[in-house]
Amino acid sequence: MNLSQICQDAIAIVKETGIFLKREVEAFDKSNIEYKGAANNLVSYVDKEAEKQLVAKLSLLVPEAGFITEEGTIDKHSDTLNWIIDPLDGTTNFIHGLRIFCVSVALVKGKEPLVGIVYEPNLDECFSAWQGGGAFCNGKPIKTSNVESLQDSLISTGFPYSLAGKITDHLTILQEFVLQSHGIRRLGAAAVDLAYVACGRVEGFYEYNLKAWDMAAGVLLVTEAGGKVSDFNGGDTYLFGGQLVAGAANVHEPMRNLIASYWKNVEL
Ligand code: IPD
Ligand code: CA
Ligand code: CA
Ligand code: CA
Repeated sequence: MNLSQICQDAIAIVKETGIFLKREVEAFDKSNIEYKGAANNLVSYVDKEAEKQLVAKLSLLVPEAGFITEEGTIDKHSDTLNWIIDPLDGTTNFIHGLRIFCVSVALVKGKEPLVGIVYEPNLDECFSAWQGGGAFCNGKPIKTSNVESLQDSLISTGFPYSLAGKITDHLTILQEFVLQSHGIRRLGAAAVDLAYVACGRVEGFYEYNLKAWDMAAGVLLVTEAGGKVSDFNGGDTYLFGGQLVAGAANVHEPMRNLIASYWKNVEL
């Protein structure tokens, strides 16, 4: 497989959907909100329409690949190769008209991302990577931050739609990051958070209860840009396990240690 070529072709497809999102946010009417089982877990026709566009075009690009998608508009799974798609990452921002959202698409073999694209249409920034090929923003190479300590870092995070049973751990960890870094940001789109780790705008990102579509493209961006990713134990269960800590080379381990010392279910 020519990953570089697949990446270039997929970028064009992902950008078309990003432009669709940018157009739709202008006229979005909140009477179109639907709920996914909880009052704070929002979705709309835009998420589903964006996913259908991506599936139709990516099916033609790599016909043998299956799909793992947030909105479940296609039932075609492969045991080896899948497109993992978040058609609109940052739905809550989108619905409120806050212009921080993106399209996130990855081609994944097993649990190993081969190609990853995160397109943020509001800033017209397209982050892309393929395995072994480096990471790019609008075609220019990007690197994670070379900051040497957590103290000099800006850290982003997110909160899952359900914090049940974990709110105390989460707030303690948040408090420690506020005290031990330059500060905390909550952008509202995990794939944007990861793209920003990859290009050094923030030094690290952590969250739990993430889904594969929130992470698949972004983790490849981070590793190809020179950063590190793991679950809270330092293992590699993140993609389908939900816990993710991603950071610049010098910051990942201090972040992971901080999280692990307050996260009750993590064995130290
Ligand atoms: C959500 C966003 C958010 C993160 C949530 C995700 P969605 O994805 O990435 O930043 O905190 O955990 O579910 O629902 O907007 O695609
Ligand atoms: Ca998402
Ligand atoms: Ca989404
Ligand atoms: Ca969602």
